[in-house]
Amino acid sequence: MAKYVMAIDQGTTSTRAMIFDHESNVVAWDQKEHEQIYPQPGWVEHNPMEIWERTQEVVQNALAKAGISGADIAAIGVTNQRETTIVWNKRTGKPYYNAIVWQDTRTAPICAQLQREGYEAMYREKTGLPIATYFSGPKLQWILDNVPGVREDAEKGEALFGNIDTWLIWWLTGGPDGGAHVTDVSNASRTMLMNLRTLDWDDDLLKIHRIPRQMLPQIRPSSDPRLYGKTPKSGLFGAEVPVCGDLGDQQAALVGQAGLDVGMAKNTYGTGCFLLLNTGTNIVPSKSGLLTTVAYQFGDGPCIYALEGSIAITGALVQWLRDNLGLIKTSAEVEDLARTVEDNGGIYFVPFFSGAFAPYWRLDARGVIVGLTRYINKGHLARAVLEATAYQTRDVFDAMYADSGIHLAELRVDGGMVRNELLMQFQADILGVPVVRPVIQETTSLGAAYAAGMAVGFWSGPEQIRQYWKEDKRWLPKMDPETREKLYAGWKKAVERSFGWVE
Ligand code: G3P
Repeated sequence: MAKYVMAIDQGTTSTRAMIFDHESNVVAWDQKEHEQIYPQPGWVEHNPMEIWERTQEVVQNALAKAGISGADIAAIGVTNQRETTIVWNKRTGKPYYNAIVWQDTRTAPICAQLQREGYEAMYREKTGLPIATYFSGPKLQWILDNVPGVREDAEKGEALFGNIDTWLIWWLTGGPDGGAHVTDVSNASRTMLMNLRTLDWDDDLLKIHRIPRQMLPQIRPSSDPRLYGKTPKSGLFGAEVPVCGDLGDQQAALVGQAGLDVGMAKNTYGTGCFLLLNTGTNIVPSKSGLLTTVAYQFGDGPCIYALEGSIAITGALVQWLRDNLGLIKTSAEVEDLARTVEDNGGIYFVPFFSGAFAPYWRLDARGVIVGLTRYINKGHLARAVLEATAYQTRDVFDAMYADSGIHLAELRVDGGMVRNELLMQFQADILGVPVVRPVIQETTSLGAAYAAGMAVGFWSGPEQIRQYWKEDKRWLPKMDPETREKLYAGWKKAVERSFGWVE
């Protein structure tokens, strides 16, 4: 049997290919960024062809770095930035429009209309989601309503919809020459179009958004022994490799963190932060502004659900400090800059650039910095940027407790920002529980690899995943409870100031 599994992780800012061996060690990887397109304030797009090109490059480079060929890969798993929406032509593979990214807020009028019509409770009940610009359904509706020719082609069955997982799997398995048009339950649960109970597209919702069913992908398990398809011999891999794992990136991180039991949770610190709590086969409705979502489904096993706290802007705020203000040259420098001061000097930075996500869900919110005095310097700003990540995590952490009654005894963390010592200590302080980082921090890619590998018997199943998880570092809370609550109360006050900035 081939000795390796490959994960393709297509994220908001970059694409990676990562090759794992049987002991879940990273053998080789490659990564490439792609362009962020901002046509208007609030609009965020990606070029789908560029994403497919970057994917092919990182796959080739990772294979070359490992010194192996496609035939050495036992299975491929795909994981992706979720919700981002593409429509393309089935015969040519050409997108009708750029990918509309999850952070894009152009669908605010569509969402506001649905809210006015009183649909909020119905969406919560059927999909587990609030009505928000974040999700795919309204984005797909926007493309159908605004891009000439798409609706006609969709009705003829010529135009296909997909999130990034679907787009990449379609290309990997042959593209216009019979590529598989599929998604998995975790990604489908982010569209606002899938019914959480039936795990199928919901006809009432398709009707509301006027979406022709024939343009939607088939919904499959996240780890699928029936395989979504195989790479063509003449294609990128030069061999027929099974494509059989598909997970939204945050769900993949939960799997990579071995969060496979009820009550286990992880928080991933990337562009945004996403805290997921495994609720097993229970569909737990949220009263506190969390999402009820699908975690994963392995083969014929039951569908496993999660509660999720989605935060749009965390690492992206550090990038903003770097790219838009030029205060640092690399993202890593934010820690040194923050360490030049003792504390935040009394300021809070509420980064609601795409409106407020969990637990507030306010379309009318925008970013604010409060508490400014002449005393404030760039060090304080850097500190407030990092603290914003920890406070937002506290918001969803508290909501998790309110919804599930589970008080997490510790928090497993992963993602780029977990190398930031100052942030991790402050996170433990503001939560009042230990924060724990695993040895393998590539949890998103690893989760996708596990899903693919389990489907072909490369790994035996969840027990093996649990055995591979090992602790690397633990931060214990050091702050006294009084200071913690005083600082957090300041954050809550600052959040109030961010509401009502746009219609
Ligand atoms: O829901 C959006 C999320 O999947 C994006 O993840 O890692 O690309 O920031 P990331």
